[in-house]
Amino acid sequence: MKSSDLPRTYRVKSFGCQMNVYDGERMAELLASRGIARAADGEEADLVVLNTCHIREKAAEKVYSDIGRITKAGRKAGRQPLIAVAGCVAQAEGEEIMARAPAVSMVVGPQAYHRLPELLDRATKGQRATEIDLPALDKFAALPERRRVGPAAFLTVQEGCDKFCTYCVVPYTRGAEISRPYHHLVNEARRLIEAGAREITLLGQNVSAWAGEDEQGRAVGLADLIRRLAREDGLERIRYTTSHPADMDDNLIAAHGEVAKLMPFLHLPVQAGSNRVLKAMNRSHTAESYLRLLERFRAARPDLALSGDFIVGFPGETEAEFAQTLALVDEVGYAQAFSFKYSPRPGTPAATMPEQVSREVADDRLARLQAALNRDQMAFNKASVGRVCEVLVDRKGKLPGQWLGKSPWLQSVWFEGEAQIGDIARVALVEAGANSLAGRLQASVAA
Ligand code: 5AD
Ligand code: SF4
Repeated sequence: MKSSDLPRTYRVKSFGCQMNVYDGERMAELLASRGIARAADGEEADLVVLNTCHIREKAAEKVYSDIGRITKAGRKAGRQPLIAVAGCVAQAEGEEIMARAPAVSMVVGPQAYHRLPELLDRATKGQRATEIDLPALDKFAALPERRRVGPAAFLTVQEGCDKFCTYCVVPYTRGAEISRPYHHLVNEARRLIEAGAREITLLGQNVSAWAGEDEQGRAVGLADLIRRLAREDGLERIRYTTSHPADMDDNLIAAHGEVAKLMPFLHLPVQAGSNRVLKAMNRSHTAESYLRLLERFRAARPDLALSGDFIVGFPGETEAEFAQTLALVDEVGYAQAFSFKYSPRPGTPAATMPEQVSREVADDRLARLQAALNRDQMAFNKASVGRVCEVLVDRKGKLPGQWLGKSPWLQSVWFEGEAQIGDIARVALVEAGANSLAGRLQASVAA
């Protein structure tokens, strides 16, 4: 590549949460709209975008080792690709990355990636540039339209977080809560449906805090947005993630009972079962208020599958307090969950709290928590055997004639028979594994 040429091919590598996956897809589309093609598998790209995650430790080290690997491959191939660092590590440590890694020519934060083409123009002239402002301007308006998406698509409706849990970097890297306007979201959802989506997952760091104004200028919340999207023909399923217990209102609970397209699944992080720990985390809920909330959701939708996030080894967490997390897990019976060892994040209040828990203790607690969560996930899957449900087919299986998709309860289901990607198949669940179920095809509703 001559230094003044635009790159011919790109690769976007996304780490972390679903919002990063969404941002990565949008960056890819932006590059494609500039005539840059996705690099074929196994081929070295002319431009590599590392779309990073900062939520837990070793994020920055991982970025530097990735950069090292890319430049090494470049030396071998006799030409160096352009490297852009995007995402939350870029936001948090952009200047440092520029200083430490001369191979990086672009640093772009999660609120500024619509400016990637400008940065690229400058990079091709040999100018390194950083763009990590958190502008009020709508980056989404500057992105190209979505033309082809898979049957299960993501739609970012809200970004940022005002909750300031004491362990979390999100309020610093993604900034304050911003809701995208109602009519933009209805329009983008329509385009996603035209582009092939049959399921849309509404994304936000704090999605249940989404707020807007409808066509009549009335103040509306997430439940109203869900009810509006459910009226779109061609859209069969709606999901949302991630929520905070403080923002779950009556209307959202009622929507779970009333909106057939809203899937019976709720990801509602609790983090810990001890009220002392929850207070130190600044979570603004107790174990009891969380359980009461779940009860109301279950009353509205009895077959609701529950998911959560947990942190073990938060500063000062005692064995007795950890036992309260295990007790809460036993009480809820999660269908699936994510659990993490507490990781001190620079700049957050918890990082400087006394009584940091030792690695050995945190490892042991994580293992015990995960054993309990795995047990419950298996139990949930086993209890699903015998059900006939709709599976949205989103992938081919390993063998010919095999298909993979998701049940309404977000379980992976595989089956054999006549189907294609995008079908909603009626499948009898016949065998449960820890991470997936085998099904028998009853009928397929063509895409
Ligand atoms: N250490 C460990 N886990 C964390 N999470 C957020 N910050 C940290 C941290 N510093 C977890 C929380 C959150 C999920 C996205 O990541 O459980 O819900
Ligand atoms: Fe982080 Fe808490 Fe906001 Fe979730 S609610 S993004 S854990 S600060």
